[in-house]
Amino acid sequence: MPTVRPLVIAHRGASGHRPEHTLAAYTLAVEMGADFIEPDLVSTKDGVLVARHENEIGGTTDVADKFPARRTTKVVDGDTMRGWFTEDFTLAELRTLRAKERLPFRSHTYDGQFAIPTFDEVLALADSLGRARGRVVGVYPETKHPTYHRAIGLPLEPALLASLRARGLDRANAPVFIQSFEDGNLRALRPQTKVPLIYLLSGGPMTADKLRDIATFANGIGANTRMLVGGDSAAVPTTLVRDAHAAGLQVHAWTLRSEAVFLPKRYGGDPLAEVRELASLGVDGIFGDFPDVVVRGLKR
Ligand code: G3P
Ligand code: CA
Repeated sequence: MPTVRPLVIAHRGASGHRPEHTLAAYTLAVEMGADFIEPDLVSTKDGVLVARHENEIGGTTDVADKFPARRTTKVVDGDTMRGWFTEDFTLAELRTLRAKERLPFRSHTYDGQFAIPTFDEVLALADSLGRARGRVVGVYPETKHPTYHRAIGLPLEPALLASLRARGLDRANAPVFIQSFEDGNLRALRPQTKVPLIYLLSGGPMTADKLRDIATFANGIGANTRMLVGGDSAAVPTTLVRDAHAAGLQVHAWTLRSEAVFLPKRYGGDPLAEVRELASLGVDGIFGDFPDVVVRGLKR
């Protein structure tokens, strides 16, 4: 059993308990013991980074009620999407919106209560919550659709690094990880910052050569849990954690959702068993919608 406890990363905040990517979700995550809070980042029309999982916000806000005529169709990274897009709204306009839960089977008690936070507000919140508790609260931003944003003249990276610099967080040992599914985005960021970079992987075979290449531009991988445990019916886990560590890469697992509808059958309905299996594999961090469950699962 590994001796170092994995980092608890609150996926979109405590998004199992509050509408994702709201200050309320991030605050609850920290109260539950999360080490890091995760804002996915997209841009407003005026170039401000805001925390949303997608630039299309029809499902996670009340934009359809407040701006019905602003619905449009776009192609984002090859997907044709119809909806409302953050890059078509100024920050002032987005501030009038309220978040809502996107999954029908989760609580909708808090729908309509919380605003969309800017990245700067998330950084400020982490700082103040950490100070109040006498501990460090880390922030784990993800650049969403960075190539798309650059193509429409709203590049995410300069704004991201400027916000980190403004708070003295653009340094190697800051409590920050920058993550992306786009390796080109991380390769471009590598010479610009010493902040640890995490390359997100959804699946596919991973060779030693690939891992060595990733280590030239990233400090770790964010791996889908299937890549680590080998799938629901796998008798033995994959060697990815060991292989990535051998290449000098950290391994962060995503995403534990805990509810029966998401929980792989191999855990027999016990979400703590999923946390424990990943911890036993030696992962360095675990993303969870329910940070309270991850914290509980890591207790010895
Ligand atoms: O960032 C890790 C995980 O969050 C990636 O998936 O789609 O939830 O951002 P997504
Ligand atoms: Ca994410």
